[in-house]
Amino acid sequence: MTSDRTASSLPPLLDAVHNRETAFTNEERHKNGTLGLLPDAVETLDRQMERVLWQLDSKSNDLERFLHLNGLSQRNETLFFKVVMSDPKRFLPIVYDPTIADACLQYNRLFERPQGMYLSLRHKGHVKEILANWPEKDVRFICVSSGGRILGLGDIGANGMGIPVGKLQLYTACAAIPPQGLMPMLLDIGTTNQELIDDPLYLGLRQAPPSSDELDAFVDELVAAIQELYPYCCLHFEDWKGDDAIRLLARYRDKILCYNDDIQGTAAITIAGLDTALSIKGEALKEQRILFYGAGSAGIGIANMIVSALQDEGLSETDARACISMMDINGLIEPSRQDLNPSQKVFAHSHAATKDLAEAVKSIKPTVLIGVSTNAGGFTEEVVRTMASINDKPVIFALSNPTDKAECTAEQAYRWTDGRALFAAGVQFDDVTLNGKTLTPGQANNFYIFPAVALAVWATQARRITDEVFLEAAKATAEQVTAEQRTHGLLFPPQKDVLRVEINTAIKIARQIFKSGLAQVPEPEDIVDWIESKLYRPEYTSANGQ
Ligand code: NAI
Repeated sequence: MTSDRTASSLPPLLDAVHNRETAFTNEERHKNGTLGLLPDAVETLDRQMERVLWQLDSKSNDLERFLHLNGLSQRNETLFFKVVMSDPKRFLPIVYDPTIADACLQYNRLFERPQGMYLSLRHKGHVKEILANWPEKDVRFICVSSGGRILGLGDIGANGMGIPVGKLQLYTACAAIPPQGLMPMLLDIGTTNQELIDDPLYLGLRQAPPSSDELDAFVDELVAAIQELYPYCCLHFEDWKGDDAIRLLARYRDKILCYNDDIQGTAAITIAGLDTALSIKGEALKEQRILFYGAGSAGIGIANMIVSALQDEGLSETDARACISMMDINGLIEPSRQDLNPSQKVFAHSHAATKDLAEAVKSIKPTVLIGVSTNAGGFTEEVVRTMASINDKPVIFALSNPTDKAECTAEQAYRWTDGRALFAAGVQFDDVTLNGKTLTPGQANNFYIFPAVALAVWATQARRITDEVFLEAAKATAEQVTAEQRTHGLLFPPQKDVLRVEINTAIKIARQIFKSGLAQVPEPEDIVDWIESKLYRPEYTSANGQ
């Protein structure tokens, strides 16, 4: 989003929101002064898409395709969404993960035109007046990152802007939320990344991040400014350093409309995958022993939501926590550890100290192994084979991304378990054929969840986002995996159906928001029609702000 949608002060061909390029009719060209500025042909949107697809085919890699599509999004938003929504399975990995990882690593070098709002610590004390520079006045979602932990790439400071931009594109591509009220934001608090600080082309603040207290005060100022300027706005925290992510969510979740996708979205998609895996195994969640490899914002978020789901199955909080063990970079989380934060301490169960995952698997005998460690290859052959020796159908989720951070590949998980693993990864791996059977690895990516949650929250003008919303999203997503798809080991609905799936999920979430009394609009008689009537369609119509 780089331009004002309501006013058309920009020349028509520079206004990405209203631009139709060669689809402007002759009459429109007469009126808007573009006669002669365009070739003679008047084309349909479909014909324009045909050209973009040809151009994308002629590129030699996905980063080039990403750049081409990103340029298109800043030139002609409707055509951009038309292309991306025409084939989500093909385009989501290009506009988002894994290609976005390459783009973020070089964001300062690839930079052409700014996208989104850059708020830097230098703006402290002036946040509200700077926010008011954003051209759209009715902002409904701000996706904000500090760049402190981008995917599995660590702290890349202001280069992290690619993530809020991409995440908000998924709101529209995966759940048809109109793009106008979406603001990507990079909170530039400095970086610990010395290589970037030393890079003459780096675009962010060249200083170390502040103390937690100073950071919290800055975020408090931001939150207050957002509430004043955009009273219906939801704050989506994305890719913050683990401790900051957990602390800030705890600080605001009961006070304002907000969520953290890495914590709650990841938890929900993992629970959706677990739901499907357990239905294939014919077992209940409370029968599982779950071992996490990685205990940062994603790991703790998933663990806490599993505790909520287990409590729903009738377990006490203590018994629910007893089903879950965790390991982090310093080893198994157990009571002798002196370095645990409060959210980790509650998962410290009596056990000998170990830093060896294979040893932990042998003694804990997990039925489910979840990797959120950023440690590529952490699920070694020994670890996976041990899982296979303990379990008939081992559940193995290697969720770290991008691709080269995954704890193991789909091929390894299936080969080392003789095809018995119920496997999901954070990125999309290709199908694997083993002993004549084709296995389809699931992509446990939170893009199945957060756009659907956002659609329901936007439509109902919810006051808060509770964990129940995410549990409902998980359930609704899992329910949409057909029996036939389960026989191929598929744990999530196919990506090609993502839009339909998320609209269905959003409808269920919206019902739940109305039931819980958190909606700020009256409940409609027909909720399905009501949601459908609000959806963005990538067409040249006035309904889409054209
Ligand atoms: P984080 O930085 O908060 O936590 C990482 C955790 O892994 C820490 O507990 C750390 O101690 C542990 N760790 C690091 N190296 C390790 C090693 N060698 N052995 C054992 N533990 C190790 O990061 P966060 O937010 O929890 O994300 C972790 C990963 O999960 C990232 O790759 C991220 O991209 C991925 N993720 C995937 C999502 C999806 O939808 N599939 C969503 C959110 C995160």
